[in-house]
Amino acid sequence: MTTTPSAAASGSTYVLGHADAEVQRLLLQGRLYDRYTEHALRVAGLRPGMRVLDIGSGPGDVSFVAARLVGTAGSVLGVDAAPQMVELARARAAEQGLSTVHFIHSAIDSIELDEPVDAIIGRLILMHLPDPAAALRRLSSFVRPGGVIAFSENDIAAAYTVPDLPLFGQVIGGIVRAFEAMGLSGRFGTTLHAIFADAGLGTPRLTLGAPVGTADDADILAYAAEVWRLVSPIEQQGGFAIDEVADIDNFVPRFREQALAADALITMPPIITAWVRK
Ligand SMILES: C[S@@+](CC[C@H](N)C(=O)[O-])C[C@H]1O[C@@H](n2cnc3c(N)ncnc32)[C@H](O)[C@@H]1O
Repeated sequence: MTTTPSAAASGSTYVLGHADAEVQRLLLQGRLYDRYTEHALRVAGLRPGMRVLDIGSGPGDVSFVAARLVGTAGSVLGVDAAPQMVELARARAAEQGLSTVHFIHSAIDSIELDEPVDAIIGRLILMHLPDPAAALRRLSSFVRPGGVIAFSENDIAAAYTVPDLPLFGQVIGGIVRAFEAMGLSGRFGTTLHAIFADAGLGTPRLTLGAPVGTADDADILAYAAEVWRLVSPIEQQGGFAIDEVADIDNFVPRFREQALAADALITMPPIITAWVRK
């Protein structure tokens, strides 16, 4: 597989940045969500020997999941518009001894393949594109007939605790509002079926997975806090900051204390995967 890396970084509309904190957040996100991505890609039909293209591969987690599913007879090419993400993904692949995974620096609009792939996948990428249906239509042209097209997006507003802890609800509501202020949908995963249909791919099959845990799960608490930290400047600028949860460093111990006292079960934003066979 080759692509034309010209105009590589142009075309990215990724508004969350690539600072260290965002990279750390993506790595944490991988730890929480990779098992659901693996399940989704398995049911979508990724099999040993397949050649896979991972769009918006970031630090590489989805490519690594796919690489394990397609085995040593298959291969994965991750594509990302951010050079620092590509470097990080390459270093992580080397660390894990994954020789069948490669990463290249290219914006989606610049991808050109010299032969079709067996599957095209992507997690949390369509939501960042100005016209996701048009992008999906173009990307699907890279897949051979009968191949797999599978994309995953989340539904932040669907996170909840039982019993209901207002502090968690406030933070989730704040994150959804901040996403909206950045022109992003906090419920993008719930629109995947319509985006597939608009891309001319018909009605996809769908599956959903969500990390569930208690206040003893450090990754769950840290992820909620890191997303909150990422978007809180937007909250401040938008004038809809919530005083009770403005002190982010204090949010984790306060929420942990409340969740432990209530013996709460915490359900994080589900990741929804839609797929079709071309
Ligand atoms: C939220 S991250 C998701 C990373 C990875 N898929 C994961 O789930 O861990 C989105 C990634 O898409 C990349 N991206 C955004 N717009 C892009 C574009 N137009 N072309 C290629 N990559 C893009 C960003 O650089 C970023 O690394």
